[in-house]
Amino acid sequence: MKFFIDTADIPEIEKLIPSGLIDGVTTNPSLIAKSGKDMGETIKTICSIVSGPVSAEVTATEYNKMLEEGEYLASLAQNVAVKVPLTPAGLQTCKALREKDIMVNVTLCFSAAQALLAAKVGATFISPFVGRLDDIGEKGMDLISDIVIMYENYGFDTEVLVASVRNTQHLIDAAVIGAHVSTLPPKVIHELYKHPLTDKGLKAFLDDWAKTGQQILPK
Ligand code: G3P
Repeated sequence: MKFFIDTADIPEIEKLIPSGLIDGVTTNPSLIAKSGKDMGETIKTICSIVSGPVSAEVTATEYNKMLEEGEYLASLAQNVAVKVPLTPAGLQTCKALREKDIMVNVTLCFSAAQALLAAKVGATFISPFVGRLDDIGEKGMDLISDIVIMYENYGFDTEVLVASVRNTQHLIDAAVIGAHVSTLPPKVIHELYKHPLTDKGLKAFLDDWAKTGQQILPK
């Protein structure tokens, strides 16, 4: 499974790059606003420090302007994936950008029907928002399962990019289902490492080692 980091916070991304876990980045207008930085400069900087796909979202809502914004965003760096919302204009833009061999991440997906449309217009990625479905009492992970099955049935190349991930269980469930990518807030990535028995076991090892009075490295 590929791990994308879901943030526009460059220091957060820089902190996680040495982990070797980051296969890409997703941003959206809310994450850009939260960063307080210029969008173009932020996307260019992220693309220069992360080699994988970096999602940058258009903010226009009608086709011609969406296409113009998408082409501009794609011109910022070769690893930009243009994000478009799952609307008729968004999918029309997706088709046009894909015909220009530009990566497209179709976002704000909340149904299997929407996901089928995105695959049919050749989306590179589809981003179903599991957390927001859970928020309204639906089972976001059931949508992931339906999409993975549909895409396998027809051999669609679109990669399922699980978004709106709120906890480690979302990631595990997505991986068990076989989603291609999860985009993770930094806090979820940091949580993945943690288990109390690891901490307890390491302390016991080190306490016992200390009793030997030995050192591994030769004096
Ligand atoms: O990538 C989409 C993500 O940023 C949305 O997350 O928690 O606002 O639903 P959330």
